[in-house]
Amino acid sequence: MMEWTDRHCRHFHRLLTRHARLYTVMITSGALRHGDVPKHLDFDHDGEQPVALQLGGSEPDELALAARLGAQWGYDEINLNCGCPSERVQKGAFGACLMNEPRTVADGVKAMRDAVDIPVTVKHRIGVDRTESYDFVRDFVGTVSEAGCEVFIVHARNAWLQGLSPKENREIPPLRYEVVHRLKRDFPQLTIVINGGLVGLDAIEAQLPHVDGAMIGRDAYHHPWGMASWDACFFGDAHPVPEREAVEAQMVRYMEAQQAAGVPWAHVARHMLGLWNGEPGARRWRQVWSDHRLKAESPATVARLADEARRAARPTLTMEATP
Ligand SMILES: Cc1cc2nc3c(=O)[nH]c(=O)nc-3n(C[C@H](O)[C@H](O)[C@H](O)COP(=O)(O)O)c2cc1C
Repeated sequence: MMEWTDRHCRHFHRLLTRHARLYTVMITSGALRHGDVPKHLDFDHDGEQPVALQLGGSEPDELALAARLGAQWGYDEINLNCGCPSERVQKGAFGACLMNEPRTVADGVKAMRDAVDIPVTVKHRIGVDRTESYDFVRDFVGTVSEAGCEVFIVHARNAWLQGLSPKENREIPPLRYEVVHRLKRDFPQLTIVINGGLVGLDAIEAQLPHVDGAMIGRDAYHHPWGMASWDACFFGDAHPVPEREAVEAQMVRYMEAQQAAGVPWAHVARHMLGLWNGEPGARRWRQVWSDHRLKAESPATVARLADEARRAARPTLTMEATP
C-alpha cells in the first residue's frame, strides 16, 4: 500500500505469518526503466518471501522489461495493477482505467509472461465509474485470462474515475462481493482472490467457500496481530503462534541491523505501531515507539521504555479482603 508499506513492513508481517503472500506497492514500469532499480526492488530474501512485485504500466515492452527485472531480483510473482484510480495514474493511462482496455492488458500480460517464468497476475476492480454491468468485468477477466493470466485479485468495488480521491475510492463505491463470487463460478479454472473491506478472521472465513483466497490491506496494517493466526487457520501450519513480545524482540534486532546500515529505527518502527492494538497499554506503548524525542536512543532502550509504559498502563487487579 503506497506510502504505508515497504520492505521493513513486509519483514514485520513475515514474522507474523510464514505463508501469506506479501505484495510490494505499485512500482511503475517507467520508474524501473529510468530510475534507481535497486532502490525500488531491493528486498530481504531471507525475511520476506513469498513476495510479489506489483507493477503499474500499460506499454507491453516496458512491462516486459520491468517484469524481467523483478524476476531477476527474486520476486515470486509479477502483479499488474488495474485498480488504482489516482489522477496521476490516470494521466499515465494505467491503473483502473485499464479496465476499459482489456486488450491492452492482455497484450501487457502476454509480454510479461513471455519475459518471465514466474506467475503474472492482475489486480483489478469490479468496474469503472457507475457501470454496474457484470458483463464488463466478466469480459475483462475473460480477455485477460486468454492471454495466460490465471490469478485475478479483485477489489470488490468500482473505481469512480472522476471526483473521488484514492482514499474515497476505497470507501465510497459500494462493496459487491457477489460479483466476485460470480466470477469464480463463471471461471472455475481461474484463481479468484477477493479483496476489499475484509476485517477480522471471521470475515475472511466467510469468503473462502466462494473464492480461492482473500487479500487483506488496511486491517492487516492496522491490526497486524490478526495475521498471527492465519498460518494455523488457512495454511494448515500448526507451528506455535509467536508471542507479541517475541515478535517485538525480533523487530528490535532487525532495527539494530537496519540502523547499522543507515536506516533510522523510526522508519521501521512505524509499521509495528499496531502490534498491541486491542490490549491494555497499547496506546502508551505506541506513543513511546512514535516519540521523536527518543530517536537518538537505541531500539533496545526504546523497547524497554515502551514495555514499561505498556505495563504501567495495564489495569491492576486488586483483591478485596473479605471480612
Ligand atoms: C494507503 C494505501 C495505499 C494503497 N496502495 C496500493 C497499491 O500500491 N497497489 C494496490 O494494488 N492497491 C493499493 N491500495 C489498495 C489496497 O491494496 C486494497 O485494494 C484496498 O485498500 C481495499 O482492501 P482493504 O479494505 O483490505 O484495505 C492501497 C490502499 C491504501 C490504504
